[in-house]
Order: sequence, then C-alpha cells, then structure tokens
Amino acid sequence: MDKKYTALVLAFLVAAADANSINLKSQPTSKLLEASRNWGDLGQSATVNDYVDNTIDMIIPLIVKHGLDPMDLPEVIEGFEVRPLLITYSAWLKIYDGYMTGLVNVSRSGDQEVHYFAKMLRLRIKLQFRDLEFIYKYLIKAMNIGPTGGIIASLNRFVVIVDILLDFNNDEIQLQQFRLTDIGRLRVRFTGNILTDWLLNPVLNLFLRIFDTIIIKVVEVNIRNAVQNEIDSINASVKEVVRELEAMNH
Ligand SMILES: *[C@@H]1O[C@H](CO)[C@@H](O)[C@H](O)[C@H]1NC(C)=O
Ligand SMILES: *[C@@H]1O[C@H](CO)[C@@H](O)[C@H](O)[C@H]1NC(C)=O
Repeated sequence: MDKKYTALVLAFLVAAADANSINLKSQPTSKLLEASRNWGDLGQSATVNDYVDNTIDMIIPLIVKHGLDPMDLPEVIEGFEVRPLLITYSAWLKIYDGYMTGLVNVSRSGDQEVHYFAKMLRLRIKLQFRDLEFIYKYLIKAMNIGPTGGIIASLNRFVVIVDILLDFNNDEIQLQQFRLTDIGRLRVRFTGNILTDWLLNPVLNLFLRIFDTIIIKVVEVNIRNAVQNEIDSINASVKEVVRELEAMNH
C-alpha cells in the first residue's frame, strides 16, 4: 500500500482517538510520516487489534466531551392497565430525570479489520461496552394510589459497530454504517415505595417495553451523532492533509 495512505490511516486512527487533536491538521505531517514507517505495510487487508487495544482508552475523553457518559435520557409517560382483582383499571407511569452511565467502560470486540481496494480503505471497528446503568425516577398513578421511587436498570453489555470508508479517489471520509447490536441482559430494580405484585409486574413489563422501543434507540442515536460529528470534522481537513503529504513526498 502507498505510504501516503498508510500514513493517513494512522493519522485517522490517532485523530479519532485523541479528543484534543481531532483535527488532522493539528498532527504535524512529519510526525505522521514517521509513524507510518513504524506502521509497516498493511497489504490488502489487516487486523489492527493491537493498535486498537493500545489506543482505546483515548476515546474516553471523546465520550465525555459529547455528553455520552453520563448521557441524559428522555422523560416518558405511558398508560397501562392493572387488574388487582376482577376489574381492570387504567393507570399510567411517568419516568423522568433519567441518565445512563458506563459508556467509558469500553473494550475491543473481536477482530478489528482494515480492507483496502480500488484506492478505498474500509475500517470496521467493533467496540463492546459493559456494565451500563440506566437510572430513572418514577411516578405511578393507579386507582387512588401514587407510588414513587427510583428505577435502576443494569445492562451487562452492548456492541457498537462503526464502519468507515476512506476514499482516496476524492480524499473523503464517510460513515458507511453504524449499528448498536448484541444488547445483553437487563436487570431492573425498583427503589422507594414497595410495589405489590399486581402493580409491579405490569410496571416492570412496561419499563422493559419502553427500554426496547425508546431508551436504547435514543442511546443509539446519541452515539451515532457523536461518531458522525467526529468523522465530519476529520473529513473536513483530509484534503489539506493529503496535499501536505504529497508535497513532502516530492
Ligand atoms: C468495567 O467492566 C468490568 C468488567 O465487567 C468491571 O469489572 C469494571 O468494574 C468496570 N469498570 C467501570 C469503571 O465501570
Ligand atoms: C467531505 O468534505 C468535503 C469537503 O472537503 C465535502 O465536499 C464532502 O461532502 C464531505 N463528505 C462527507 C461524506 O461529508
């Protein structure tokens, strides 16, 4: 693979990993070229596991900078039904003051791969996040009672897949695919007022449904927006960096 592209891949990974120099221009070109010599020849495809392992901690400041940990979660109000004896009553649940923590607990998930073809470089990064907590306050109105308290939901893990294409035909970087997958097991605890079984079960089921249909989707969109934002800012300076690299090579 051409040195220019090797250097850029490295520059990209470093820039993506370092919150203070997300702008490629802040990396001195000579430093990039020097680093590209250590990087070696990637060939047509390569795994870059060691590289990702060694730099993964550097994305933590980015997670914090984008307000992803802690991440604010939306207020949700939904109706449901309770059936203490023979009669069905309508009720509602409000969850509010929600936030998620734990995104800083990130690690590599499986092999991280780089493919090179037709002057395009595709980088597929899979990150696993573990021990996430979703904290909410709740308010229930059912019949003539209004229990309140907190919800603490723990998720053992999820995986984020980020697929990035660097196209050296026009010196652009774009996000090809973003997915939040492999969502693990959710455990839910309620604090505050004791909920009797006829109330606890429907509230628990409703919360699980809100988690699947709203909360995890919001988490996905928030992470995707932050990734898109970083890639846009790298893309904005790619042309200039390529020009500088070419000038230095001649
Ligand atoms: C991250 O996850 C590991 C493994 O589950 C856990 O032992 C560790 O306490 C977590 N770290 C933080 C900062 O939450
Ligand atoms: C990347 O930046 C260029 C300007 O340098 C712009 O024309 C292009 O639309 C951007 N591409 C993406 C995918 O945002």
